[in-house]
Amino acid sequence: MTIVIENPQEFKNWRNANKGKTMGFVPTMGALHVGHESLIRHAKNQNELVAISIYVNPTQFDNKQDLQNYPQTWEADLKVAKQHKVDAIFAPNYAAIYPDNYTYSVAENSISKTLCGASRPGHFDGVLSVVLKLLNIVAPTRAYFGEKDFQQLTLIRGMAEAFFLDCEIIGVPTVREKDGLAYSSRNQHLSAHGRVLAGQINAIIKTAGDTNQASARLKSIGFEIDYIADVFGRRLVAVKTNETKTGSAVRLIDNVEI
Ligand code: PAF
Repeated sequence: MTIVIENPQEFKNWRNANKGKTMGFVPTMGALHVGHESLIRHAKNQNELVAISIYVNPTQFDNKQDLQNYPQTWEADLKVAKQHKVDAIFAPNYAAIYPDNYTYSVAENSISKTLCGASRPGHFDGVLSVVLKLLNIVAPTRAYFGEKDFQQLTLIRGMAEAFFLDCEIIGVPTVREKDGLAYSSRNQHLSAHGRVLAGQINAIIKTAGDTNQASARLKSIGFEIDYIADVFGRRLVAVKTNETKTGSAVRLIDNVEI
């Protein structure tokens, strides 16, 4: 049975009642896709209990439009959670998770200002703040994050170390479609042509000799480059395209090991 808990104290009570059991936790913003299912599978394999959270966190959106366009697919998400025999879904609202109205936040002053953080001011403070809250409420043994958001994963690992968190942070390899496109809730906004172009991103960043070459190749097929950089032993990229269903730009990220 999958239980849904909205209240942080109720979740803590449920966790306390299961204190003796290992728990794997997958934080999400819903719109669950194959990538999330892989995180849940990893959590299931390594723990006695599995919890996920579904919460579209406003403090990590620098752009209101992006927040408004974020897909909300509660019924489908519930079905996925049940299929995977997730034990609990934590689904708070803003008042429950931000009783302080975001007057308190976690700030990282180095890595978070670069790459995605440079073009999305405040984004990682929002991510780190909500993840810290979620980890404190859920008290998992292990928490699972996709390698697709590699900068996010690096920062969450750093926060867990910096604040001596009692939870192992596990990175899970990116799940890709046949042409190499990383699964993302944003992919559904792409037009048919945009979807074909997006399928080339992974091969380009993998095969280009350096970031300049990769950048030139991505530009030549119409992408606007937000950044491309070799860091953390990876090549990280963020690109924008207007080849979308609505005409408003979609930002896609990916990374490969180098
Ligand atoms: O990766 C995400 O979906 C979000 O950034 C997270 C970790 C659930 C925090 O809101």
